[in-house]
Amino acid sequence: MVDWTAAPRPPLVIGIGGTGRPDSTTERALRLALDGAARAGAEVRMFGGEDLGRLPVFLPGRGEPTAATREFLDQVARADGFVLASPSYHGGVAALVKNALDHLEELRHDPRPYLDGRAVGCVVTAAGWQTGGGTLASLRATVHALRGWPTPLGITVNSAEQKLRDDGTEADRRCLEQLALVGRQVAEFALGRSFAPRAAAGAAR
Ligand SMILES: Cc1cc2nc3c(=O)[nH]c(=O)nc-3n(C[C@H](O)[C@H](O)[C@H](O)COP(=O)(O)O)c2cc1C
Repeated sequence: MVDWTAAPRPPLVIGIGGTGRPDSTTERALRLALDGAARAGAEVRMFGGEDLGRLPVFLPGRGEPTAATREFLDQVARADGFVLASPSYHGGVAALVKNALDHLEELRHDPRPYLDGRAVGCVVTAAGWQTGGGTLASLRATVHALRGWPTPLGITVNSAEQKLRDDGTEADRRCLEQLALVGRQVAEFALGRSFAPRAAAGAAR
């Protein structure tokens, strides 16, 4: 457990991901990673599948952002770290999640543009072993393009075999631990940055 008493405030870690399915494996995995961040002392907030479904399709330069888009962008701008979780759909990041990330284009002129300077844990679910790794690499490439720092550990969950339940298999148990570790890595990176605000601001220019 990290001692946050010397930090200006606990870091805010935002989870972004899920699918349209209630209680989806993807959203469960995201929640487990956020629990890991919370246990390491972070405040957490999640934008799950339903929240992401309220964001319109991103069309650059078209009209004012909706209330849902504004709320999402405000939270992203405030956040100190992120966990992203996407299912692998047809070998790639699901449109629901990618659309949300495309909206970050509206933050290009922010003092911390896009995901700049913040750690981003990446989690992918797939119904097999074949496409998870490729989708994870693609999600991490998007994080790099958005100037985020992917955490050392990324996770692929095979939803055909891993149900992410406490009473599950040995593979489930290991996966639960790894998801929590991703959340912890995000929170700890945010804490490290909070002790070096000048260096962080300098790096953004
Ligand atoms: C439209 C669609 C495309 C999919 N494409 C793939 C795929 O290419 N490879 C794969 O392993 N699983 C694929 N899946 C399965 C999802 O990745 C799998 O269901 C994932 O773990 C999401 O489950 P969840 O809804 O419980 O989060 C696809 C599912 C859907 C609905």
